[in-house]
Amino acid sequence: MQKKELLYEGKAKKVYRTDDPGLYIVSYKDDATAFNGLKKGTIVGKGVVNNQMSNYMFRLLEKQGIPTHYVEELNERETAVKRVSIIPLEVIVRNKAAGSLSKRLGLPEGTGLKSPVLEFSYKNDELGDPMVNDYHILAVELATREELDQIAEMSLNINRLMVDFFKTVDVDLIDFKLEFGKTSDGEIILADEISPDTCRFWDGTTGEKLDKDRFRRDMGGVEEAYAEMMRRLGLK
Ligand code: TMP
Repeated sequence: MQKKELLYEGKAKKVYRTDDPGLYIVSYKDDATAFNGLKKGTIVGKGVVNNQMSNYMFRLLEKQGIPTHYVEELNERETAVKRVSIIPLEVIVRNKAAGSLSKRLGLPEGTGLKSPVLEFSYKNDELGDPMVNDYHILAVELATREELDQIAEMSLNINRLMVDFFKTVDVDLIDFKLEFGKTSDGEIILADEISPDTCRFWDGTTGEKLDKDRFRRDMGGVEEAYAEMMRRLGLK
């Protein structure tokens, strides 16, 4: 497989065409942004962590029956993935209150939730990824009813699998964001990444934050937190 031209550059990743029409190459950057690009910085080595950790998680989920875009890790920053069109939704699953949910509902961070919360945002930087519900999604045709039901079921399944997995490495999975894509056959598969950029990971014993909130909130120890997550997964 040969890497061809750059198709798309996002805030944290680049996507390249390849000579295989069914495959793209994703390249993970060290660039970090927060608050819809308002805060910018670099997290040294983040691209390597996010590539390797995402691939670890995709392989784990595939083994448990979740279809993903993962094909093959090419090097420490780059991975071959199935070509999909991304469904323009950010799917957020929450197990404990934190971040924007804590603000919206006035719940201290770490407050337990009786059941997981599923949220959708319309993936649109210009609009700041506004939260939408099923009615918005169907009305403006971001997804069909069938697609939305499938995305919701897959996301809650992924949550159960990830909560159980992270428990085994003493990490409390507070919340995370997923994105899904559609293949040329119309199959919906998990895409994007699963990393400290897109999940809240708290140490299961001390509650220490091991994710991008350290960057968002200027807490220091950012690179160390990403490295610690790699160690927990046995990747370092
Ligand atoms: P929030 O509490 O800020 O809404 O974030 C919920 C989860 O989604 C958290 O794990 C971080 C992740 N997230 C992203 O991956 N990308 C984003 O742009 C935002 C706002 C959150």
